[in-house]
Amino acid sequence: MIPSLSPNISHNLDFNSLPHHVAVIMDGNGRWATQQGLPRITGHRQGAKTLKNLLRCCYDLGIGELTAYAFSTENWRRPSEEINFLMLLFEQLLKQELEQLHRESIRISFIGDLSILPSSLQQIMALSREKTQKNQALHFRLAINYGSRQEIVHACRQIVQQVHQGNLTLETLDEAVFQQYLSTSEGSDPDLLIRTSGEMRLSNYLLWQMAYTEIYFTDVFWPDFSPSHFYEALWHYQQRNRRFGRLVGTHLPENRSLF
Ligand code: IPE
Ligand code: IPE
Ligand code: MG
Repeated sequence: MIPSLSPNISHNLDFNSLPHHVAVIMDGNGRWATQQGLPRITGHRQGAKTLKNLLRCCYDLGIGELTAYAFSTENWRRPSEEINFLMLLFEQLLKQELEQLHRESIRISFIGDLSILPSSLQQIMALSREKTQKNQALHFRLAINYGSRQEIVHACRQIVQQVHQGNLTLETLDEAVFQQYLSTSEGSDPDLLIRTSGEMRLSNYLLWQMAYTEIYFTDVFWPDFSPSHFYEALWHYQQRNRRFGRLVGTHLPENRSLF
């Protein structure tokens, strides 16, 4: 079911050319709470509800992949009370939502270095991934303890190891092979990135994968990001001209030189 929208946006959205893969940087939870005189963790709790609504919205629209940034490798620099709360929240959410998501055939997976997360969280993550791995409706990826630079260095280490072991040669290493060593190897690159809260940076998110992603920034804090804000982002996405280096309106055959 399509949520109610401002008539302007819903009228003009082309449901046949939606992005296949949407990535989100869910930012502004703390400021949302502070603005109302509430503790920061209230913002995280509210932010979790926003994520559930967005997931539903993507599901209803038939969007293929949603990748949400929940905790960065840099977020360990925060006070331990906030970190502990977030880890508990992730665990609770997965426990609460797993059955329903599975029933709807949503596939859940994770990117980031999971090895240092609390073991009870790791357990429910492993269960969620295994239980839903064959689901076809929507691939929902959660980035927890994720950092793009770390991911790229990790890929390089694995590649060097493969070369040492004689399983890979330097001559065969190209972009397509490289991307197989990234944690997103099974999916496609994001078509659209949405970052809330007015910050205009990538904060170490999917740097390789977002080489040609359309980026949409909004001032809205994540807990306030509603389905109609999402539709607005989709509308803006549809106004973009994705050229991938080509010229507008030209369809040169691959082998024809411009010069
Ligand atoms: C995003 O909201 C959630 C996480 C990074 C875990 P923030 O917690 O960064 O909220 P602000 O940016 O401080 O308002
Ligand atoms: C990015 O938000 C990470 C997540 C949303 C999980 P931050 O709030 O940590 O980013 P910076 O520090 O403002 O760049
Ligand atoms: Mg922030």
